[in-house]
Amino acid sequence: MSVSLSIIYLVATIAFILGLKKLGHPATAKNGNIIAATGMGLAIAGTIFIHDLEVPTSIYILIGLAILLGSAIGGWMAIKVKMTKMPELVSLFNGFGGASAALIGLVEFSRNMGDQTQATTVISGIIIGAITFSGSIIAWGKLNGSIKSVIKIPYHNTINNLFLIGIVAFSVFMVTTGVDSQAMIFVVLAAGLMYGILFVLPIGGADMPVVISLLNSLTGIAAAITGILYSNMVMLVGGILVGSAGIILTIAMCKGMNRTLFAVIFGSFGATDSVAGANKTLGTIKKTNPSDAAIMMNYATNVIIVPGYGLAVAQAQHVVHELEELLTKKGVNVKYAIHPVAGRMPGHMNVLLAESNVDYSLLVEMEDINSQFKNTDVVLVVGANDVVNPAAHNDPSSPIYGMPILDVESAKHIIVNKRTMNAGYAGIENELFYNDKTVMLFGDAKDALTSLVNELKNM
Ligand code: TAP
Repeated sequence: MSVSLSIIYLVATIAFILGLKKLGHPATAKNGNIIAATGMGLAIAGTIFIHDLEVPTSIYILIGLAILLGSAIGGWMAIKVKMTKMPELVSLFNGFGGASAALIGLVEFSRNMGDQTQATTVISGIIIGAITFSGSIIAWGKLNGSIKSVIKIPYHNTINNLFLIGIVAFSVFMVTTGVDSQAMIFVVLAAGLMYGILFVLPIGGADMPVVISLLNSLTGIAAAITGILYSNMVMLVGGILVGSAGIILTIAMCKGMNRTLFAVIFGSFGATDSVAGANKTLGTIKKTNPSDAAIMMNYATNVIIVPGYGLAVAQAQHVVHELEELLTKKGVNVKYAIHPVAGRMPGHMNVLLAESNVDYSLLVEMEDINSQFKNTDVVLVVGANDVVNPAAHNDPSSPIYGMPILDVESAKHIIVNKRTMNAGYAGIENELFYNDKTVMLFGDAKDALTSLVNELKNM
């Protein structure tokens, strides 16, 4: 490799690491993204233009067209996508990454079967790429609702494990015998695709984001394998960064839901449509209106706002910021309580509130804010449900039992804004709504908060 290309790869690698570091905080995330993308652009340009191969112009034209087409489609999708549909987009992107790795493996297969190390790399790339591709497409279908429910296959764990062992055994046979058969490599590809489907089909409910994060990690591993194949340092490092970041995120999300990775993959969250606690008599609810809710907040000393998925659906991030500013001007201490899995993607609430320029110091993570609820006069829950459901503490039969939640129950007064009495993502009843201290402010979050703001302005 030429010195100039080595330097470009080094700069790109530093950009990836720096970018990833900056992605860790909402205040620096945008810059982090730009830095990492610039590093990627540099690495791609260096790989295309700096080498000692004789490359015909037609190949450059093809590469240029592919980059243009890919960038146009990716850019269009990223601009068009709604914040609530982001996990679907991530899932699709994971799938494309996996497909690329599998296709590269297919192209490189014949050239590398003579060398056992290279052959292992090629076949691993095909298998992991294929699993990532088909698994991600199934995950995408589940998230957008085209694959309706959790499809339980009898003995699915045993079948899946035997299938995986079969794929590995067949691959070991191919590598050790050095057999160069196109038919056989397509069998490996088909088996990988099939395994991806079998792996994701039985998983559902709140476990889907964990699966997406895991598939994201597999995309990174597939890219790293391709980096080994081409002895390309920057591809290897990029892949390892995505792979390890994906695993860390997967573990963090499992922790946020108090689930083990094992339980996610082999468990059955969301496998039933039953509504836990549906037969219980939960009591009656008390309704409120914007005027009464505004009075409660106006005379409070401390207010905590709990944003959830409904806030994102209603695009109420700007009006919630306006409400917070208005209350602050009136001398009320306002904070936001951020649950790690509130919304539909990791960091959903941080991203949403950052969009409306909420001061980051007001966003308080669950572990830090839970002890503060008991000294809080009013909690305003906006479009959040599962993340404030006391069943996680009180009901061992609940599918969310053991999941850490925001302890809003211990506040003095609770105002819950949502449109109906419908359940949240986990499909379960929420006894918080029936609590003596709770009043329900029904309506779309944007409309309800706008009315609250108007009432407060007149006080
Ligand atoms: P959810 O439990 O899904 O509850 C959201 C609530 O918002 C619903 O009960 C809904 O009630 C209400 N809502 C919907 N549209 C609204 C609107 N326009 N205005 C006002 N309210 C509206 O949300 P959560 O508390 O944020 O919990 C997140 C859940 O999603 C967890 O179970 C979590 O595991 C799961 N999940 C999380 C992620 C990540 S990584 N964050 C990814 C996927 C899934 P109405 O229909 O009655 O209005």
